[in-house]
Amino acid sequence: MQFSTKAFSTSQTLGKYKTECLIVPVYPESAAGKNAGASGSKMKNNLGQTANDLEEHLSGFLKTAVASGDLGTSLGQTSLLRPNSAHAATGAQRILLVNAGTAKEQSAGLTPKQFEDMATSAFKACMQLGVSQIGCALLELEVQSRDIASKAQILVTIARQLHYRFNELKTNAASKIPASKITQIEFIARQDSELTAARSGLSVGVALANGVDTAKTLGNLPGNFCTPTYLAKHAQKIGKANGFKVEVLDKKQIQALKMGSFLSVAQGSVEPPKLIVMHYQGASAKLAPIALVGKGITFDTGGISLKPGAEMDEMKYDMCGAASVIGAFQTAAELKLKINLVGVIPACDNMPSGSATKPGDIFTSMSGQTIEVLNTDAEGRLVLCDALTFVKRFKPSTVIDIATLTGACVIALGHHHTGLFSKEIALTHELLDAGRQSGDTCWSMPMDDAYGELLKSNFADMANIGGRAGGSITAACFLAKFVEGYEWAHLDIAGTAWKSGAAKGSTGRPVPLLVEFLRKRAQA
Ligand code: BES
Ligand code: MN
Ligand code: ZN
Repeated sequence: MQFSTKAFSTSQTLGKYKTECLIVPVYPESAAGKNAGASGSKMKNNLGQTANDLEEHLSGFLKTAVASGDLGTSLGQTSLLRPNSAHAATGAQRILLVNAGTAKEQSAGLTPKQFEDMATSAFKACMQLGVSQIGCALLELEVQSRDIASKAQILVTIARQLHYRFNELKTNAASKIPASKITQIEFIARQDSELTAARSGLSVGVALANGVDTAKTLGNLPGNFCTPTYLAKHAQKIGKANGFKVEVLDKKQIQALKMGSFLSVAQGSVEPPKLIVMHYQGASAKLAPIALVGKGITFDTGGISLKPGAEMDEMKYDMCGAASVIGAFQTAAELKLKINLVGVIPACDNMPSGSATKPGDIFTSMSGQTIEVLNTDAEGRLVLCDALTFVKRFKPSTVIDIATLTGACVIALGHHHTGLFSKEIALTHELLDAGRQSGDTCWSMPMDDAYGELLKSNFADMANIGGRAGGSITAACFLAKFVEGYEWAHLDIAGTAWKSGAAKGSTGRPVPLLVEFLRKRAQA
């Protein structure tokens, strides 16, 4: 799918613009007189700037359409018009009017969420029409704290989100989810001065969508395809294509590092574990890197503490933290962000078998601390703790780990916000802000030392579980015991990394959150 932007500063040039379908926002409720008197600078009546300019070629056609009530009263409702010679034609073969709210809402600015929902419905309508090329005039809308560049970025992200398909493992054409025919979307600017910002928004949107798609596809691939070995090879492939270095450490090397905790999880599976280490250098080597650590459990059966059967297939998504690290690297490299990054992914299966960990087994982590494994299903923290120790050798300034860590986080926050755990106030705010800006939100959770007390063990330095209450917090407190020498935040994406039910599939989260955070760091 190609994206471009073009400026039409006069109604003359806009009228001649050739496109299969032009998406044009209008404000239909004002037609009913509700907004009489409300007048934004761009709004002469119930039409916006683009609609008004087109209307000069269409002798009242648009106004009549809006007044007819066809656009309903809810944001995002659409109505398709086909200008013909009776109305003096435009270059646009079709005009898709979109209800962009009331004039009042527009002068206050739409919320980003309203803007996204409206664009989603407009693009969906275009997909149903089967057109291949679209002109889109939605950049004229005012959106709260979003400039031209971020509006363009949002529109690209949405178009690509609707375009994404996972048909790789369907061989029968009829069972494939049909792809949209849209191959090009051109965003209409109304001044040449808007073009630079629009273009930069488009390229950020495309780079982000590329990273998100990578994360989605890795997540959607089942455990028999996306093994630790596959994940490592794929990271290398993405690294090669985007210019970052990927090292893969095998079991022997992991043993040499004394990662006893990580290896305890891997020992039940015939699939060998891999430690994937990625390096992106976009700034002077003197600048301390930011490290991203991703949980890469390629399938989580629970091990000997076996999970119940219902929905266990969804545990193929237990490597979505790892996938988001690979996706964020891809986007950061594509955007040539002026930062240094290190990525660390401990990847393995969590399987029950004759060689698997038994509850009560005790292992020595890379840090030297011993861990009593009371529940083999609390394996994410066991692989991450060694990665958090390992990452110290790169002297990172900041470490963020991303993990589908606890079912308890889903109970606490549902599927909207990612759980954010950090003892650093400034870092917490950076991540909360990046979440709000990207729409890929997180919510700050407590992690007082008192919760950490629950991890006491009679036989080792700590246990790997702390009881049901506050389960996502005790998990974070477990990880905190391995953090040393850098500022750290933990993102629990158990509720946000994928969707269940009819729309089952990976979401690509939190790639947008991570990329926004990294872009801000790169600007600082
Ligand atoms: N991968 C799961 C967490 C999970 C469960 C994510 C359900 C999304 C949906 C993790 O490894 C796990 O099993 N955690 C246990 C921890 C418990 C044994 C302390 C959990 O949440 O039940
Ligand atoms: Mn588990
Ligand atoms: Zn898990």
